[in-house]
Amino acid sequence: NKGKYEHYMQKEIHEQPESLTTTMRGRLIRGGSCKAKTVLLGGLKDHLKTIRRSRRIVFIGCGTSYNAALAARPILEELSGVPVTMEIASDLLDRQGPIYREDTAVFVSQSGETADTLHALEYALENGALCVGITNTVGSVIARKTHCGVHINAGCEIGVASTKAYTSQIVVMAILALAIGGDTISNQERREAIIDGLFDLPNKIRDVLKLDQEMKDLAKLLIAEQSLLVFGRGYNYATALEGALKVKEVALMHSEGILAGEMKHGPLALVDENLPIVVIATRDACFSKQQSVIQQLHARKGRLIVMCSKGDAASVCSGGACRVIEVSYVEDCLQPVVNVVPLQLLAYHLTVLRGYNVDQPRNLAKSVTTQ
Ligand code: UD1
Ligand code: M6R
Repeated sequence: NKGKYEHYMQKEIHEQPESLTTTMRGRLIRGGSCKAKTVLLGGLKDHLKTIRRSRRIVFIGCGTSYNAALAARPILEELSGVPVTMEIASDLLDRQGPIYREDTAVFVSQSGETADTLHALEYALENGALCVGITNTVGSVIARKTHCGVHINAGCEIGVASTKAYTSQIVVMAILALAIGGDTISNQERREAIIDGLFDLPNKIRDVLKLDQEMKDLAKLLIAEQSLLVFGRGYNYATALEGALKVKEVALMHSEGILAGEMKHGPLALVDENLPIVVIATRDACFSKQQSVIQQLHARKGRLIVMCSKGDAASVCSGGACRVIEVSYVEDCLQPVVNVVPLQLLAYHLTVLRGYNVDQPRNLAKSVTTQ
């Protein structure tokens, strides 16, 4: 049931304040007599010790689910104290890459049925790793075959383009980072800031959803383009990949997410006054590096659309003309949850304006059950 919406993708983008609330329900604990702030993942509580003792945590997934793990990687590295690596499921299988008994292998899949991810799970089980699932579908194969896991509880996702599952996956993995990390005096302030940030996320998503009309106007400008680049780094490298994946998969426009730190190693050659480029430059430790990327793109007359934190519009555009998307600030590791929303809206409007099928893009299936 699409309710008041025309398409499932549109509905699923707009219901993210509610889906995130459901994802977090019962899992964040704040207040009480001692005012403790903590987290609880029922499905993992008996396995946290083993995860903490593992030699490495390896995240495995495909498409948007892989991007979600990539978005959560920095906070997992920061809080868990365990090395975190990433594998695209098909690539792990192609290489028969190393998975050891001492590893925790985390399988991220909205459907819980993706063939590549499932085969990678079978491979990791054979190799003796602790296998953890992060799935949206209770009773799915991946939920059943993993040793333990977390349901993201985002509600049924129907549009082929994954939107609300992506933001719920990142939130679950941020909670996972808090759960693995445990309380220490030295990280108490950071943990509390993240938990407060999580409580506040649905409101921040409501704010950013107000950019709907602005994203439609931007889509009108980009309707006839051949290509769109998205530059990000740090916490928002994944946002660049995910924004580009949305645009190519539904709007059928070539789009590439680019790690901004790689700009001078090739992509800069593409920059001219015609190619539209989205640069994600919200406030975090990488902000000044992104400002210098923007300056260099301005110097080559790049056609820029800069996503920045509220109040930063004038400073990010000081070196030349650009369009700005201003978003609310949240704790740095949660910023990807906010930042992806305008890009989801942009992909949605581009698709409708270009006259393509939003919910069933050509050649794609919601659940890819063949290799
Ligand atoms: C569970 C209940 C939830 C209830 C809550 C109350 C289910 C599905 N969930 O949620 O309805 O409100 O307790 O305390 O009944 N699992 C895997 N692999 C996966 C995902 C999950 O093995 O990919 C396992 C978990 O380890 C756990 C079980 O499935 O044993 C349920 O996981 P989850 O729904 O995340 O647990 P709770 O949040 O505790
Ligand atoms: O169900 P899964 O999360 O395992 O699916 C993985 C990918 O097939 C999926 O995310 C795909 O990339 C989406 N169509 C992206 O929107």
